[in-house]
This record gives sequence, C-alpha cells and structure tokens, in this order.
Amino acid sequence: RPVHILNGPNLNLLGTREPEIYGADTLADIEARCAARAAELGVDLTFAQTNSEGGLVDLIQAAHAAEAAIIVNAGAYTHTSVALHDALKSRPGATVIELHLSNPHAREPFRHRSYIAPVATGVIAGFGARGYLMALDAVAS
Ligand code: DQA
Repeated sequence: RPVHILNGPNLNLLGTREPEIYGADTLADIEARCAARAAELGVDLTFAQTNSEGGLVDLIQAAHAAEAAIIVNAGAYTHTSVALHDALKSRPGATVIELHLSNPHAREPFRHRSYIAPVATGVIAGFGARGYLMALDAVAS
C-alpha cells in the first residue's frame, strides 16, 4: 500500500542543524532506514522534502491522488499553515500522521499550536529519527 513521507522546511539540514535537538542523522540516513522498513512491511514508500509551503501543498495533493497514507513532518509550517491544514483534510478518510523529531510541546510557546493536529489521525513527536519508523509501523498496521 502507498505511504508518502513528506518533510518540510529545514529538514534537508538534518545532521548539522541543532543536533542537540534534532540528532546527528541526516535526512538521507532517515530515508534509507525508512526504505528498508517499508520493504519489510510491504509498503510502497515515497519520501520527499521541500522548503516551500506551496511545495508541501503540492506533495499533499499528489499523495491524496495516489490514495496514500501521509506521514508529514511539516517543520515550522506546522505552527503557521492554514494551507497545509486545508490540503490535508481535502481527502476525507485519509490516514495522516503528524510527525516531529522533537516534542514541540516541551519547547517554545510558538511551537505549541499545530494546524495539522486537528486534521491528523495521530501524532508522533519527541522520539527523534526513530519516530519515522514508528510512524511507518503505525500506518502499516
Ligand atoms: C520539527 C519541530 C518544529 O517546531 C520545527 O520548526 C522543525 C522541526 C521537529 O521535527 O521536531 O523544523 O517539526
């Protein structure tokens, strides 16, 4: 079954960006681990990253067109984007997992609001790169 893992702004910098918060793994490391787990689970995985909000809207629409489950780490757009909220809910019944490496609720107040949570099936946050595999396991089960 199709699963799209979508990554937003600045996640291309993983490995060097605030490693004390986000860990030492690069996005390529995480993608490789996800590809291996997807093969084990028999999941047809698409893995993408964009720094732009409109780019994320396009990726969400493409995932909906593919009738894919969506795992989305929208980075900072999580806390600002009505456009992502609207895009995610445009396909009724879609499985959507909101994912974060860190636990935004344990951080600055501006990270406490999520525009994605109200349209998410579930949320995984605070488990670092392992969260990506946890999300894959969740959508595959
Ligand atoms: C993040 C948390 C966001 O608050 C932040 O803007 C990010 C990464 C995370 O994965 O922990 O870019 O989504």
